[in-house]
Amino acid sequence: MTTLNVRRGPEFTRILGLGVARGENAVPNDALIEPINSSDEWIRKMTGIVTRVRANEDTSVIDLSERAARDAIAQAGIDASEIDAVILSTISYPRITPGGAPVLADRLGATPAAAFDISAACAGYCYGIGQADALVRSGAARHVLVVGAEKLSDFVDPADRSISYLLGDAAGAVVIGPSDAAGIGPTVWGSDGSASELIKQDHTWLEIREDRDLPFPTLRQEGPSVFKWASFRMAPVALQAIEAAGLTPDDIDVFIPHQANLRIIDQMVKQIGLPESVVVAKDIVDSGNTSAASIPLATERVLRDGVAKSGDIALQIGFGAGLVYAAQVVVLP
Ligand SMILES: CC(C)(COP(=O)(O)OP(=O)(O)OC[C@H]1O[C@@H](n2cnc3c(N)ncnc32)[C@H](O)[C@@H]1OP(=O)(O)O)[C@@H](O)C(=O)NCCC(=O)NCCS
Repeated sequence: MTTLNVRRGPEFTRILGLGVARGENAVPNDALIEPINSSDEWIRKMTGIVTRVRANEDTSVIDLSERAARDAIAQAGIDASEIDAVILSTISYPRITPGGAPVLADRLGATPAAAFDISAACAGYCYGIGQADALVRSGAARHVLVVGAEKLSDFVDPADRSISYLLGDAAGAVVIGPSDAAGIGPTVWGSDGSASELIKQDHTWLEIREDRDLPFPTLRQEGPSVFKWASFRMAPVALQAIEAAGLTPDDIDVFIPHQANLRIIDQMVKQIGLPESVVVAKDIVDSGNTSAASIPLATERVLRDGVAKSGDIALQIGFGAGLVYAAQVVVLP
C-alpha cells in the first residue's frame, strides 16, 4: 500500500515578537459628538473612551500593517524571508479580492509565504493566533506573521449613534514560531451566526448595486444586545481557555480582552473571578475600539507602561461581529 509522508512540527510555540502602529491622530470625543447629539461625559461614562486613534486619509490598512509587522519581525530576530505564512485579520481592507495579506507579504519581502486574510472582526487576532499556533505545531510553517489591522474610519457614518464614535484605526502584529516551552495555550473559539444581524455592514454590495441612491456602506450595531452578550457570555469562554491551559484564574498575570467598552471589561473581570492582582489592559481609553488590532495594541501598552513584563501569563479574548469569539492564554513576548 502506498503511504504518504506527513509533516510534524515542534511541540510548542510562542510569540517571538510584537509590533504596533496606531493611527496618527488622537481624536477626542468632542470632535465627534455634534452629528450624534452626544457629549464627552456620556461617551466617557458609557464606554470609557476619551480619545480614539484614527489614521490620516492617505494611510491605508496595509501601511499600518507594514509598520506594525516590521517591528514584530525585528523583535523576533528573524528576516522577513523566514516567514512561511502571513495571516491578516481585518474587516476594513477595501477590496473583496485580492486579499491584503499577499500585498503585505510582498511589501515586507516575506515572499513566497502563504498569505490570506481572516474576516473574524474583533475576534480576528485571537483566531489568527489559534491558526498560527496550529500551523507551526503541524509543521506547515515555521514562522507565521499574524496581523490584526483596521482602518475603520473609512467605514463609519459620522451621524450613526450605534457604533461610529467607538471605532479607531491601528495595526498590531506578532511573529509566532517554535519554542522550548509552551507559550500559547489551546484556543477556545466559536461562533453564533444566528446573531449575525447584531453588528454588520448596513447594506450589502448587491443592495448598493441595485439602488444607487443608497449611501456608501458603513457599520451598525445593536449596542445593548452586544453589550449583554459580551459581558455575560464571554466569561465562560475565557474560563475554558484558562482551564484548557491547565491553569486557574489565580495563575493569570494580565487580562487582555478585546477593547470594546470599559464597562464590558470590568464586568468580565468580575464574571471570570480574576484576582485583584491581575493587571487589566484598558487601552480603549486612549485608542478606542480598533477591532482586530485592539488586543495586540493593548498588549504593547501594558508592556510599554511597565505594568506587565516579558514572560507574564496573559489571558486574551476577542469577540465581535459574526458573532464570533476566541480566547487563549499566552506568555507575553
Ligand atoms: C453602544 C453602547 C455604549 C450604548 O449604550 P447603551 O446604554 O446600551 O445605550 P442604549 O442604546 O440602551 O441607550 C440608552 C440611552 O442612551 C442614549 N444614547 C444611545 N447612544 C448614545 C450616544 N452615542 N450618545 C448619547 N446618548 C446615546 C439613548 O438615546 C438612550 O437614551 P434614553 O434612555 O433617554 O432613551 C453600549 O450598548 C455598548 O457599548 N455596547 C457594546 C458594543 C460594543 O462594544 N461593540 C463592539 C463590538 S464587540
